[in-house]
Amino acid sequence: MCGIVGYTGPDEVLPILIEGLSRLEYRGYDSSGVALLDPDASGDSSDGGLWIRRRPGKLSELKRVIDDVPAHARLGIGHTRWATHGGPTEANAHPHTDETGRLALVHNGIVETFAEIRRELIGAGVTLKSETDTELVAHLIGRHLVAHGGSLVEAVRIVMKDIEGALAIVVMHADFPDSIVAARKGPPLVAGLTADAGLVGSDIPALLAHTRDIYVVEDERVVEIRPGRITAWDLEGNEVVLTPKTITWSLEAAQKDGYEDFMLKEIHEQPATIRDTLVGRTEPGSHRLHLDDMRLSEDALRNVDRVSILGCGTSFHSGMVAKYAIEHWTRLPCEVDLSSEYRYRDPVLDARTLVIGVSQSGETADTIEACKHAGHWDAKVVAVTNVVDSSLARDADAVLYTHAGPEIGVAATKTFLAQVVALETLALYLAQVRGTMKPEVTGELLAELHLLPDKIQQVVDQSDEIRKIAERFADRRDFFFIGRGVGYPTALEGALKLKEISYVRAEGFAAGELKHGPIALIEPGVVAVGVCTKSFVRLKTLSNVQEVKARGATTILIANEGDREAAEAADVLITVPTTEELFAPAIDVVALQLFSYWLAKARGTDVDMPRNLAKTVTVE
Ligand code: M6R
Repeated sequence: MCGIVGYTGPDEVLPILIEGLSRLEYRGYDSSGVALLDPDASGDSSDGGLWIRRRPGKLSELKRVIDDVPAHARLGIGHTRWATHGGPTEANAHPHTDETGRLALVHNGIVETFAEIRRELIGAGVTLKSETDTELVAHLIGRHLVAHGGSLVEAVRIVMKDIEGALAIVVMHADFPDSIVAARKGPPLVAGLTADAGLVGSDIPALLAHTRDIYVVEDERVVEIRPGRITAWDLEGNEVVLTPKTITWSLEAAQKDGYEDFMLKEIHEQPATIRDTLVGRTEPGSHRLHLDDMRLSEDALRNVDRVSILGCGTSFHSGMVAKYAIEHWTRLPCEVDLSSEYRYRDPVLDARTLVIGVSQSGETADTIEACKHAGHWDAKVVAVTNVVDSSLARDADAVLYTHAGPEIGVAATKTFLAQVVALETLALYLAQVRGTMKPEVTGELLAELHLLPDKIQQVVDQSDEIRKIAERFADRRDFFFIGRGVGYPTALEGALKLKEISYVRAEGFAAGELKHGPIALIEPGVVAVGVCTKSFVRLKTLSNVQEVKARGATTILIANEGDREAAEAADVLITVPTTEELFAPAIDVVALQLFSYWLAKARGTDVDMPRNLAKTVTVE
């Protein structure tokens, strides 16, 4: 998730931008850049009156190329980029400029109609200098100004009104030497004022060193920030009132956006995460999916006769969910393997095998090596990852990014949901390309996918009730998570979450497998958490719940509202919204994440950095 900062005022701007960007480092980034207004430049100078420096890598890399800073520069914008369109190179780093070189722009988000706008601009003779969607926005605004004149605010407003996607942008122009214009459609933006300066940023920490009077820019607004003054409009051009709020949190708390931990923040981000994963791939009301961004030809997908999914930990669990979807929707045989086992077990594969390597970080050694092994057998490898240009992405034949934004908590939460949705989108796309599903059925499933964010929100909203439940079980030592169908990987993921952050014994089982052994461990004191949401095996799972209940276990059930049988079988019931069975893990697991989070909090562990674990595991 990119970080943005902008300043206009009486002080030297560069240190303010660098300090602001360093406060946003927690968001994760892979390149950075700044643009300053050079007050001494002549109007027709070759650099358009702007001084721009950009570098791939950390902020320290940017600082190394900061030389000949224009004296008296008092206005500028800065950016930390988390790559989405185009790898983390200097050319792709922000700020981007328009054709005149007098306008510079930074952006957080994704332009949905990227391919179309790119074609149009190239057709109109524009030479693009990067692979990004952001540069296109700079050109659109710049061209509007050249063609129609008028104010920068008006040009930004017109372009923002038309453009589709998720955008928070901040723009400066050498012809408007004391104002910065920012606009928002989706991703957050905040502004701040002092008596003689104006600031803007993608998050409060970027501004806190200068002011605690913060204006949260509402969605679909354009704001103009001048020293000591801020004005806002809606996208129709009507002026709107902005009211400041005074921030009393510490800097660390501000980075967590007021949440106690990154994990809780990331759990709350999940509705937005799913929207971002779907952006550009399917629109509400559509019967079709576009995965052009994956860059694997339809012919290659038609040629596939078998699918192998590889991953570790949480990524393995999302792969398990995808197996159910791929087999059901495409009728292709699909296996899921732990990456660490796959490469050493002499798997059967050839050029017609589609191998899907799933990894949040894209740097997990086990998964990278397993995919390389598959590549040696000429299998087509698709990486499903959250990190642009990661090793897994670079090595693969094709990449499907999950677009979840950086995840800081070691326990994966929002990236699991993003993986499930990305993988199921891929499964639907395979079905579309191979003609194994009627378009109207695809349409119904896509419509349901678009409802997921609101349904996930309903679970997130139950955080307080789930906290009270978790606190009642904080002194228990043994938890069994059980489920059938896609409820099984959900149970495995619930157990993994609980054990890794609370250090209690938590194991996941296929509910039907209990009687073949694990049931021997059931005795009073054991807690059985059952995933019993709508499914054609729901009643069977409920029978397995009765079996453990009869042997003394306390039962906590995740079920849909109005499920009488579940209510009767449950000692504690957590209800969640109903959805298409194969999408249910994306909803049900949120209740389990919250249960694990609150139980760990009650036990006083460090949920963001659990003992013995690392966010990225680069060793075998
Ligand atoms: O980055 P990856 O998705 O490849 O990581 C795989 C596992 O290490 C990871 O999912 C791990 O299990 C998490 N701690 C789960 O919360």
